[in-house]
Amino acid sequence: MKKVRFGVVGAGGISNHFHLPELSQIQEAEVVAISDIKLDRAETTAKKFGITRWYTDYKEMLEREDLDAVIVATPHPTHAKITIDAIEAHKHVLIQKPMTTNARDSLLIVEASKKNPDLKIMVLPFIYYDTPVYDYVKDVLLNSEIGKICIAEARTSHGGPEKYQAEVANMFGESMDVWFFSSERAHGGVLLDLGVYSVTRLVYLLGRAKKVSAFIATLSKASEVDDNNVVLIEMECGTLAFAESSWTQVPGQNTTSIYGDKGTIHINYVAHNIAIYREGLGWSYLDLPREKEPQHAHRHFIRCILNNEKPIGTPEEGHHVMQVLEAAYVSAKTGKTVSIY
Ligand SMILES: NC(=O)c1ccc[n+]([C@@H]2O[C@H](COP(=O)([O-])OP(=O)(O)OC[C@H]3O[C@@H](n4cnc5c(N)ncnc54)[C@H](O)[C@@H]3O)[C@@H](O)[C@H]2O)c1
Repeated sequence: MKKVRFGVVGAGGISNHFHLPELSQIQEAEVVAISDIKLDRAETTAKKFGITRWYTDYKEMLEREDLDAVIVATPHPTHAKITIDAIEAHKHVLIQKPMTTNARDSLLIVEASKKNPDLKIMVLPFIYYDTPVYDYVKDVLLNSEIGKICIAEARTSHGGPEKYQAEVANMFGESMDVWFFSSERAHGGVLLDLGVYSVTRLVYLLGRAKKVSAFIATLSKASEVDDNNVVLIEMECGTLAFAESSWTQVPGQNTTSIYGDKGTIHINYVAHNIAIYREGLGWSYLDLPREKEPQHAHRHFIRCILNNEKPIGTPEEGHHVMQVLEAAYVSAKTGKTVSIY
């Protein structure tokens, strides 16, 4: 059986909780090496997952190891450089969200990937919405079952990254270090961390954004970066949308609502994962499976590599989301609406 040989960059929370456990379940995946600037994290994680080689310098890993693909699972400001270095070393790349921290860097990734059209560069979190739930909603929209879509809203929230970061620090016997709250080390706050999900869902369902206007604030956390925001978006299709994200909502929510002139859809509201109102028919409720297969994101990426398929979440799509997030920061700072080109 053909296997994809992976190198992972970053041995922190998301690698330990998501990438490595999932890859260990997939026969077509082999994690050859891991790197982290902290030697102890690289070594501890490698031993935990039976990875035989670990590095403190990902460039050395790229040079020395025979890798097919790289997973970039480091803090957001490092994603662009590591991704471009991996592309230049001719590796397929799966990039954690947010793709980058600004649209200039995401464009650099687009340009690097265009120079290497044989490589699969997959940007999260688009693939998280390749589910029976979102397929159903896409069909409803495509068939105009709820009429013309006038308003859409997407909310992504939880109580903040510090509890999760404490668990990660504990895992390695370190004291807690919440880089998510540092402007120098994260470049932005909840808008980058969770707003990326809200904006991706809107773009995934409704297409490109045209204009952005936003309010962004730090209301509760002892943080240098934003912990709440509301982003208003005029989509190219004409729909008016808002994307909200928050580190101060308990319980967290991951909800999307779409309002057409002949009906309404709520996704992931409290009781059922889809509630849909069709004019003349009233409300109906569905509980569709939340995933197509276990480890779908990694399996999809591997299939793209082995079968030469296009990833769900291309660099161009990721760049558009970064344009929206950057426009939101600019709008909040200037008080002006920002157009996206
Ligand atoms: N998709 C999801 O559900 C999800 C969840 C959490 C985090 N994330 C994203 O994953 C990324 C990592 O987050 P995390 O929570 O794992 O953070 P983390 O702090 O737990 O882990 C990041 C690791 O990267 C290492 N690192 C930093 N710079 C490096 C470099 N240049 N080379 C190699 N290693 C380096 C750090 O030492 C650390 O061990 C972030 O961009 C975050 O937004 C995604």
